[in-house]
Amino acid sequence: MPDDTIGVGFIGAGDVSVLHAEAVRRCPGAKLVGLWNRTEQRAIQRAEQFGCKRYETPEALVNDPAIDAVFVLTNLETHLKYTLLALEAGKHVLVEKPVGCDVGEIEQMKAAAARAGRVCMPGHNYIYEAGMERTKQLVTEGELGRIVSCYVLYNIHHPEEVAARYPGVIRQIMTHHSYILLYLVGRPKRLVAMKATLHYERITQEDLAMVQLEMEDGSLAHFCASFAADDHTADPWTVLVKVIGTAGGTRYSYRDWVELKPGLVHSQTYTAYQGSITNEVRHFIDGCLRRGLEPLSTLDDAIVAQKMIEAMERSIEEGRIVEVG
Ligand SMILES: NC(=O)c1ccc[n+]([C@@H]2O[C@H](COP(=O)([O-])OP(=O)(O)OC[C@H]3O[C@@H](n4cnc5c(N)ncnc54)[C@H](O)[C@@H]3O)[C@@H](O)[C@H]2O)c1
Repeated sequence: MPDDTIGVGFIGAGDVSVLHAEAVRRCPGAKLVGLWNRTEQRAIQRAEQFGCKRYETPEALVNDPAIDAVFVLTNLETHLKYTLLALEAGKHVLVEKPVGCDVGEIEQMKAAAARAGRVCMPGHNYIYEAGMERTKQLVTEGELGRIVSCYVLYNIHHPEEVAARYPGVIRQIMTHHSYILLYLVGRPKRLVAMKATLHYERITQEDLAMVQLEMEDGSLAHFCASFAADDHTADPWTVLVKVIGTAGGTRYSYRDWVELKPGLVHSQTYTAYQGSITNEVRHFIDGCLRRGLEPLSTLDDAIVAQKMIEAMERSIEEGRIVEVG
């Protein structure tokens, strides 16, 4: 490969690795060199599918000089371990969301990245979309007037066997909502959350949650995250983000691009799902690694997003409005 090609290695080759492999394939000047996965059979199958090498251990992957950047695509509980392994081997890291299990884990990643002088970027893919960036610009430049409300809504049915591999929708999906809100309109001061478990027979994690938030500037926001049912109505709230101001508003919807074929665990393909990951990977490779740009959402943002998640959990446990901290 040419001298300036950025070599990528995947730690973890589950569902989301399919989207990242396609994103790397579409990113000029980047190449997926190889992957490691805990179960060998899956590793063999994915290495063949992606046309890349398979490493016997994660250590062998991070120590290969052909690899410049490591994507940590494992389950949440192992993100810290593999992120530190890669940073300490001198590699840049893109780590999937939720970045860590608690604020302390994300702080450890931040300190390790600073020590190594390497980029560690959260996999906060939803904001790497032209519509999101335009909204951010309009808000920042004051073109929408005073922002009064922001809505982030997600209604995508997930079968129980898929949901069983993840935490409930608060950690798995509200993490997206949290970094989207931070990116578009800023920090919340306090919030109140509720959750429900409606369609699972075996697992106990929530499949529905809603949150009301009061922002630092006094405006309000609302989050909904559901694995319980798809929204089949005329103007579906599949993934919908609205910002409303006194002088204008914006909308971003997954339903603007629909392909009638199953998309991983979704009943149809929402083009923006792959699209946002493709844009995110391009920003990481071209923007951060080649041109020294900051991620659009940093580890500091991941820390605030994690504080929001923990505030939601506290609010539910204590049945009251809580400060985000
Ligand atoms: N950004 C997005 O839109 C998006 C979408 C889906 C998943 N994700 C995130 O990607 C990550 C992976 O999710 P997925 O959907 O690919 O899940 P998956 O269940 O398909 O894959 C999980 C991966 O983790 C590995 N793993 C599990 N336990 C492990 C352990 N103890 N040690 C080492 N490896 C272990 C598995 O081998 C597998 O490679 C999660 O953090 C998830 O939150 C992000």
